[in-house]
Amino acid sequence: MNPTSSLPAVLSSPADARGRRVLTGYRPTGKLHLGHLLGNIQANLALQETNECYFFVADWHALTSGYEDTSDLHANVVELVADLVAAGLEPERATIYRQSDLPEVAELNLYLSMITPLGWLERNPTHKEQLRELSTRQINTIGNLGYPVLQTADITLVDGEVVPVGEDQLPHLEIAREIVRRLAHIYGEGLLLEPSALVSGGARVLGWDGRKMSKSYGNAVFLDDAAETVAEKLRQYITDPEKIRLKDPGRPEICSVFALHGLFTPAADVAVVDAECRAGERGCVACKAELAQNVNAMLDPIRTRKAELGEDEIGDILAEGARRVRPVATKTIERVRRGIRL
Ligand code: TRP
Repeated sequence: MNPTSSLPAVLSSPADARGRRVLTGYRPTGKLHLGHLLGNIQANLALQETNECYFFVADWHALTSGYEDTSDLHANVVELVADLVAAGLEPERATIYRQSDLPEVAELNLYLSMITPLGWLERNPTHKEQLRELSTRQINTIGNLGYPVLQTADITLVDGEVVPVGEDQLPHLEIAREIVRRLAHIYGEGLLLEPSALVSGGARVLGWDGRKMSKSYGNAVFLDDAAETVAEKLRQYITDPEKIRLKDPGRPEICSVFALHGLFTPAADVAVVDAECRAGERGCVACKAELAQNVNAMLDPIRTRKAELGEDEIGDILAEGARRVRPVATKTIERVRRGIRL
C-alpha cells in the first residue's frame, strides 16, 4: 500500500481525484441505458484517461437480492461487460474484472464481517428500503444485510481511494470508512485505505413518463436499441400538454424532450430548438425526430462495437482483468492476515 494523504469523505470534482486509484463496481442486472451512459459511464470514461482505474462486475452483489433465480446471472455479466466496453471503457487502460474471479474479496469480507456491528448495517437506508419494497422475497438474510461489508471488501482489497458512485451509494461509502477505521482501531493502522466517494453529478435522464429513466419503470432507452426503436421510444415522450397543434407556442422549460436536446444536441442547435418551439414554428413530432437523430449519432458507434464483441472476447477481457488485479489483492490480503495475526 502506498499511504497517501487522506481525502475528504466526498469529492465532487474529478479533478480532486487526480493521481488517485479509482475503483467502482456495477451490479449485473441487465442492459445499460441512456441514464447509465450520461449519469455515470461518461464520467468514468474521463477518469480512465487520467487515473489508474479498476472497474468490476459485482456478481456476488447481485446475489444479495437475487439469489433465488440465478438463471440470467451469467448472461447479465456478459451483457454488462459488452455494454461497458462498447460505451468506451478500455480494457487496455482500465482493469475490468469480475468480483467472483477474486476469492480474496470473500476472505476480506469475512474479516470485515467479524468487526462490523450489526447496528451499522441495520441502519443502512438501502437495506431498510429493500425490506419494504421486495416484501415478496426473503431478503432479510446475512448476505443482504452485509451488502455494504462486501462492498467495503471490494474497495479496500484493491486499495481503492476514489469511488465514483451515485448519491444513493453515499451511506455505503460512509459505512466503508467506518469499517476501515474500526479495523485500524482493533488491529493497528495501515492495513486498509479509507476510501472517498466521488459524486460527479452526471445528468439525470428522464423517461417518456417524466420519471427517472430505469429498466424497472419500463421507460429506458437501451444502449443497443436499434435506431428505429430509439425513435419510437422518443415519440412516446410527453411534451408540453398545452402545445396541441404544430403552431401552438411551447414551453421548453417544462418539456422533457427539450431536456434531452440539452444532453444530446449541439448547443447552437439547442438554441434553435428553444426559439422555434417558443415561436410556434416547430412541431413536437419533428422535434422528436431531430432528437432521435442526435441520440442515434451517439449510440451508433456503441451499437456497432457491441455487435462486434463476442462472448470469447468478453471472456478474454475478464481473464486479463483478473490476472492484473490478482497481485494487488494478494498484497492486501497478506497484509490483513498479518495484521490480524493469523
Ligand atoms: N453498490 C453498487 C451499486 O449498486 C455496486 C458496487 C458493488 C460498488 N461494490 C462496489 C460500487 C464497490 C463501488 C465500489 O451501484
